[in-house]
This record gives sequence, structure tokens and C-alpha cells, in this order.
Amino acid sequence: MKRRVGILTSGGDCPGLNATIRGAAKALYERMGDDVEIVGIANGYSGLINGEWRVMQPHEFSGILTRGGTILGTKRTPFKLMRVVGEDNVDKVAAMKENYKEMKLDCLLCLGGNGTHKTANLLHQEGLNIIGLPKTIDNDIWGTDVTFGFHTAVDIATEVIDRIHTTASSHRRVMVIEIMGNKAGWLTLYSGIAGGADIILLPELPYDINNVIAAVEKRAKQGKTFSILAVAEGAFDTEEARMKRKEWTARRAKAGDTTATARIARQIEAATGFETRVCVPGHMQRGGSPSAYDRVLSTQFGAHAAKLVENERYGVAVAMKNHAVTENKLEDVAGKTRLVPEGCDMITVARRMGICLG
Ligand code: F6P
Repeated sequence: MKRRVGILTSGGDCPGLNATIRGAAKALYERMGDDVEIVGIANGYSGLINGEWRVMQPHEFSGILTRGGTILGTKRTPFKLMRVVGEDNVDKVAAMKENYKEMKLDCLLCLGGNGTHKTANLLHQEGLNIIGLPKTIDNDIWGTDVTFGFHTAVDIATEVIDRIHTTASSHRRVMVIEIMGNKAGWLTLYSGIAGGADIILLPELPYDINNVIAAVEKRAKQGKTFSILAVAEGAFDTEEARMKRKEWTARRAKAGDTTATARIARQIEAATGFETRVCVPGHMQRGGSPSAYDRVLSTQFGAHAAKLVENERYGVAVAMKNHAVTENKLEDVAGKTRLVPEGCDMITVARRMGICLG
């Protein structure tokens, strides 16, 4: 009997989505030949709700290993709104179940981050056969040591820091680089260490601006003519840590600081008199071709998902644990975020290197 496998990509894109789609598709065709049909769902859960899908042909999965973005398109459809019936009067969960039936799917592969996995678990609880695949440059999915997209983003952010180094040195400036990551600081921590940042600020470790200023001044006293800060976009200080997020974002807006980096740069310049600039690489960190590491990881994850389909093992999320590809139950992953823990190896390394963590 023919098996019909749906694939969607949801949430923010990242390099490696196409490589993972390809990995799953090629491995499925390889093992099941004409007995498998792949249905591509456009624009994530939004496409599943609105019935945007089509049966794909094997040739469509060729030539996409190196391509950035996602051939299926993606969209953020917040989990918290899944059960809310909006003005369009559409019951989203019912619509997703109906379209799954309409497509005659045996299972659905959901490539995405934390939000995607929450909805994947919801659909699993609603009786659909779901497999999650862990995508995100934030590397913050619970139960996997690494997500695809992360290492490519580390490479890109590292190159930004490298390039900022030379201009910082020429102009004798303090450069504050804003790295993506609202809740998790993995990308900032890895690229900060790889790029030789002097100060690394993460959302997990609220900073004291006086410590940051002291670190800049200490470098100046040592004869260093510039300083580099790698700051996660979600970083906040010790005072803000005692407030609700809404409160401190409103307070920042009132002060005219829209981002953590703008505020830090202003405070450093005011306290030290050193010329300070902000650099925001933004979505460049999610663009372009996946690195060799991510191509391999995506292929491993995709091929593993194909094996799970073959074995009809559903309600799980693919993961990498201790260098082995495996899977977790979706209900164990959904709703949890893997943050940088105080005292982890990388934090210890940073401290040993004399990097100021705020
Ligand atoms: O989750 C990935 C991520 O790039 C975060 O690091 C960042 O905070 C967010 O997405 C940006 O989202 P958007 O693409 O919606 O601007």
C-alpha cells in the first residue's frame, strides 16, 4: 500500500531546511520507491489550515542540498492562537485535521523550532501521526544537543565579529554587535568565543552595566585600543531581571532605546568617552547556504525521519544526543526551552579566558 508523507516547514527559516527536506525525501524514495508519495504543504501550519498543498515529484528534491531558505515557504503561526477562533471564523485545529484527512496522509513531518514542536504535539494529541525535526539558529530545542541551522549561524555571526574587529581596531572604537537570540544565548556564546569577543552578554546571565564598563576600561588601561561586545538581542540587566518583561521594554522605549545593544552602547560611551558603534547583522544570520556541518546534520536528521516513517514510529521529535541521532517523545519536548545553563562547559571556558560575561 502506498504511504503518503506530508512535509511542512514552520516558524523562522534557517539554513538547512531544504537539506533536511531532501534528506527525508531521498531516504524515503530510496527505501520505499514507488510506494511512497510526498505531499508538500506551503507556508507551515498556515498552509495546513488553509489547504495549500500539492503532491511533489522526486526531481523537486534534487539540487536543494545547498539552497538556503525553504522550498515550501514558512510562516509563524503562534501556538497560543491555535485554539483561538479569529475573525475568519476558522477553527484552526479542526481545519488542520480535515486537511490531513483530505490529503490522505499517513504521517506529517514538521520541521521547526519550539513553537512548531508545541503545535506538532497538539496535532499528535489530536490523533495525527507526527514527526518533528529540530530547526533553529537559536539551538534551544529541549532534548537535542544541536539543531540544524545553528552552526551555519555561528559561522555567519563569527565572520561578522571578525570583520568588525578590523574596523574597530582602525577607528579605536568600542563595537557592540547584536546577535540573534531572544531567550537563548547559544549563538552569541559560540560566535562570541569563536570571534574572540571581549565581552559576551546573554539573556540567561543578566548583566551589570558597571561590570561591562569596567571591562572596557580595564582593556583600555592595558593598552588595548578597541573592545568588542557580542550581545544577544534578548540580553537584559540585573535591574531589569527583577521586573516583568513588559515593564522593562516600556522603560527602554521611553528612554529611546529600542534594543539592548543601543542602550549598552549609549551607556558605555557616556561612562568612558570612547567612541562606540552598534552593528546588527540581523536576518543575515538566517540567510544563505548551510555550512558543511549543517548539511551533514540535516541529512542525518532527514534520513532518520525516513526510518521513523518506515517503522511507523510517530509522536516523536528527531534529536542528536551524545553524537547519535535518536528521537524524543513530542510531549517531552513541547513547551520546554533549552537555555544556556550557568556553569556549563562553554561558560566555564569563557570565564577562564577572562571574557566579561557581565
Ligand atoms: O528563532 C529564530 C530567530 O531568528 C530568533 O533568534 C529571533 O529572535 C527571531 O527568530 C526573529 O524573528 P523574525 O524572523 O520573526 O523577525
